[in-house]
Amino acid sequence: MITVIANLKGGTGKSTVTFNLAVWLRAAGRRTTVIDLDPQRTLSDVVAVRTEEGIEPAVTVEAGHFSDVSLPADAEEIIIDVGTADLGSFKQAVMIADRILIPVTPSQADIWSTQRFVRFLYKNTHGNPPESLTFLNRVDTNKGNRASDEAAAALDALPGVSLMPHRLSDRQVFRDSFSEGLAVFELEPRSVASREFNALAQTMFPHGHRSMLDRLRKQKSSAVEDETFREALELPSEERGATDRVGIEEVSPAPVAEMVHANAWDADDGMHQKAREGKKRKKDGKGKKRKEGKKARKSKKGKKGKRKA
Ligand SMILES: Nc1ncnc2c1ncn2[C@@H]1O[C@H](COP(=O)(O)OP(=O)(O)O)[C@@H](O)[C@H]1O
Ligand SMILES: [Mg+2]
Repeated sequence: MITVIANLKGGTGKSTVTFNLAVWLRAAGRRTTVIDLDPQRTLSDVVAVRTEEGIEPAVTVEAGHFSDVSLPADAEEIIIDVGTADLGSFKQAVMIADRILIPVTPSQADIWSTQRFVRFLYKNTHGNPPESLTFLNRVDTNKGNRASDEAAAALDALPGVSLMPHRLSDRQVFRDSFSEGLAVFELEPRSVASREFNALAQTMFPHGHRSMLDRLRKQKSSAVEDETFREALELPSEERGATDRVGIEEVSPAPVAEMVHANAWDADDGMHQKAREGKKRKKDGKGKKRKEGKKARKSKKGKKGKRKA
């Protein structure tokens, strides 16, 4: 499925959400292609930090104009970050999207801009826009719920978009984790921010348990390679008895939030360690090294030239 994370307005959290979704999907074992069509390249920058730090699961990103990037046919999920600075790519991405995810910050300007975006979607898809989902991001936790409830009511009344009930609060951990190349649920798995994000991701991608089915299939095929297993599998069913017939459909997969949480909890200590080391490195003045690395990468990018489609 192709999900384009879009909005005509900048700063609503498109790149932040795309990055966190990318890590979440990878942690859930989904074959995910991540594409950055925004010339600001925020998504590419955060992925570069993650790669430099060697954080697992690794995330890769393809960046460029729409015509430069490839959309692999075997990807389970393709997520695309777009920006208005490359309007041509933005429009092409919208045309091929199965659905659009629109993060909206709770302000009047954002509601107007979302309204304009809905018209943009109609116009650029010949009146046949993909499913469009909005949600409130950067909800101010100090202001109480009134402003966000009003924004939610306005979004809910907008024809052409469906408002998701999930909200992401404005939390420092989103900014801190991003600068470390980490997802929120890796840096602070037990935080409210992680709970809110996991709920949103699970609603967006409810079939995360496919990774478990993949694992079960793999186990099954390695069992078939084993002589004694093969014999057992070849026995007529009445000789094995009903209890021996355990099929994939009889195994109920764990909810993906649990799995991702389990992954995150397993990784918890390591991640915290990494984050601490990252902070220490910055304090030691070695953060400079990263900046230099970034510069080098940028100049390499320039030298590399156009990527093959
Ligand atoms: N839920 C959130 N809580 C706190 N900060 C956020 C949240 N979502 C995004 N941000 C911050 O808002 C700024 C803009 O986010 P970004 O993802 O770059 O937006 P966009 O891609 O739409 O321009 C960044 O500084 C990011 O760290
Ligand atoms: Mg962005």
